[in-house]
Amino acid sequence: MPITVPKLVQWKREGRRWAMLTCYDYPTAVILDQAGIPVLLVGDSLGNVMLGYPNTIPVTMEEMLHHTRAVARGARNALIIGDMPFGSYQASLDEAIRNAAAFLKAGAGAVKLEGAFPEIVHALVTRGIPVMGHLGLTPQFVNVFGGYRVQARTPQAAERLLADAKELEAAGAFALVLEGIPSDVAARATASLSIPTVGIGAGPHCDAQVLVLHDMLGLSPGPTPRFVKKFADLAREIALAAQAFLREVEEGTFPGPEHEYTA
Ligand code: KIV
Repeated sequence: MPITVPKLVQWKREGRRWAMLTCYDYPTAVILDQAGIPVLLVGDSLGNVMLGYPNTIPVTMEEMLHHTRAVARGARNALIIGDMPFGSYQASLDEAIRNAAAFLKAGAGAVKLEGAFPEIVHALVTRGIPVMGHLGLTPQFVNVFGGYRVQARTPQAAERLLADAKELEAAGAFALVLEGIPSDVAARATASLSIPTVGIGAGPHCDAQVLVLHDMLGLSPGPTPRFVKKFADLAREIALAAQAFLREVEEGTFPGPEHEYTA
């Protein structure tokens, strides 16, 4: 059964927890969809994870739409969320609406945007575009934060975040990502909202959890943040498979007779 936005809100009422993973391409979308992952985020982490950018700032609408279309072709049931890249929604409501609509035309069922912008959320939702909010350590604000630092650590900053969360909910957001904040602040936000919270580096008390796929599969080069659990070591598996192929080609054992076309 296709996952819908109202279903996720219903799951919050029922106390049902769920998982979201990032996804950027067709074959992975097929696998994750068939594995039963209900929500796939075409995250702007595309920039650093897939395209080799230093951070998410350079990611363009064109790149996001290209990958959203690929994911949409692969997923039958999962709700696909398109992540609005840096600069695609801040300049004007008109531009935000145009760009968000482009995600839905590309096959997404909703968009996500970073920051406390209830007026943008309201403008999109009232035009038929469901919005997932995103507060806390929002990577598009790396230049304001001066690095990837845990947010909402002081009592004042925590109150600000809780107030922003309520405003996004009132503006019509259907869910809220909470990234890189203390778990007690995430717990308070989760308890005070009627929409689901989706945690990443925000402790266990959120309604849902999200991870960057390449981090949890062990495919990201370099150290991963402490909040990531590696559920597989695919970098090792790929290297072993590549080395086995190389060895068999060098030895002349691949291709064998069973790989030949017969007339
Ligand atoms: O772009 C992304 O991958 C994200 C998640 C980490 C929430 O925004």
